[in-house]
Amino acid sequence: MANPEDPPFSCIRYLPTTEAYDRWAAIYDTDGNFLQALDTIELKTLFPQFLRSILSPRPWRIVDLGCGTGRNTTLLLATPCIEEVIALDSSRGMLEVARSRLHQALHQAGDGVSTPSKEPARGVPRLHMEVFDMLASPVPPKSAQQADGVISTLVVEHVPLPTFFSQVSQILRPGGVLLLTNMHAHMGGISQAGFVDAETGEKIRPTSYAHTITDVVTEARRWGLEVVKAGDEDEAGIKETKVDEIMIETLGPRSRKWVGVTCWFGGLFRKRADQ
Ligand SMILES: C[S@@+](CC[C@H](N)C(=O)[O-])C[C@H]1O[C@@H](n2cnc3c(N)ncnc32)[C@H](O)[C@@H]1O
Repeated sequence: MANPEDPPFSCIRYLPTTEAYDRWAAIYDTDGNFLQALDTIELKTLFPQFLRSILSPRPWRIVDLGCGTGRNTTLLLATPCIEEVIALDSSRGMLEVARSRLHQALHQAGDGVSTPSKEPARGVPRLHMEVFDMLASPVPPKSAQQADGVISTLVVEHVPLPTFFSQVSQILRPGGVLLLTNMHAHMGGISQAGFVDAETGEKIRPTSYAHTITDVVTEARRWGLEVVKAGDEDEAGIKETKVDEIMIETLGPRSRKWVGVTCWFGGLFRKRADQ
């Protein structure tokens, strides 16, 4: 779908997902990607619902699976009942951007208290960042196991569902909660993640899958994860968002061509206590 608001490109080049994100990292936060803006709006409701759904004793250990540049890891670092945040991603380039953003956030959260050692200021979560590729290793890192919660935003588009839910199920402790958001299959059927590389003029695309909500919910259940109904979702317990005219001002000009298309879904899943 051509969009006059999108940057022009000479050709489309498909790259392995990690390599694509290594290149995307430098502009990922600034290239006007409206799906991130939509995700940020939706998380204003979904993230507090996620925190309310976690029933294990505080303080919690929470994993950001596919943290990217740390856009949503910052939410975790600003949550007082979290003692440790584990941020995982396969792209070193994305993690480098996250590292500088999150260390800044940690210092701000510590009220400017300087922490020359690796110890954070009191009341601020510890941050552990690690390179981890869900496709390359069938087992999540030890640092991430037995977590009280996982957030994974706009990531599962790049991973087959059995791989993704196998990892989440191994990370979460019984009763733990997953916050999942993704590009909706209605959008994924006609587009996918990608960016224009300013150096080459090429549109770079990673590997993507247009997962439907039915497939996501069904596969999650196979790994012991059940949908948590938390608020204003549809029958399946998952919220779907269609872009409308009024949203363009907030989401930016690149959202214009998506008016009338359902572009985002998100929801919560709990790992069964007997798993
Ligand atoms: C669209 S970005 C989302 C980043 C961040 N969660 C956000 O919401 O802004 C997708 C992220 O998933 C990561 N990713 C893709 N495939 C992965 C894999 N197999 N293992 C770990 N991370 C992966 C990418 O490197 C990238 O940082």
